Amino acid sequence: MTETNTVTFSPELVNFIKTWKNKPGNLIMVLHQVQEEHGYISRSAADQVAEMLDVPLATIWGVISFYHFFKLTKPGKHNIQVCMGTACYLKGGQSLIEELSKQLKIGVGEVTEDGNFSLQAVRCVGCCGLAPVLTVGTEVFGKVTKDEIASIIKQFS
Ligand code: FES
Repeated sequence: MTETNTVTFSPELVNFIKTWKNKPGNLIMVLHQVQEEHGYISRSAADQVAEMLDVPLATIWGVISFYHFFKLTKPGKHNIQVCMGTACYLKGGQSLIEELSKQLKIGVGEVTEDGNFSLQAVRCVGCCGLAPVLTVGTEVFGKVTKDEIASIIKQFS
């Protein structure tokens, strides 16, 4: 955790945190909301949550590292998620990841140098009939072949 830039919470987020301050289970709710607004949990955001909820920073890191849902690094402008659920895996999900890695020059969990793309492997995204599936932001691509990867990347470049 080396990132030190200070992030500013929106007034809505600050209100949300105040509303949840004394409720049970508040930490996870608040972290979800922070990630929703900022795309990840930065060091600065974690510091602010610790102060506002009056909980130790170590508790926050404990929650973040336990739940894989939370991200500690800023995702790319376009987050590419390749489904590695059973159906997609059997239909070549791994080869899509390899091709994306090759073309974007990043591994899973990394962000391209220009910040435009990040790459993730995810569990079943719920449209197995379209396997193998990948998503770019909210857009879903089904029955994807390795040969289509270049043109998918191009659409978002
Ligand atoms: S396994 Fe990929 S969508 Fe279900």
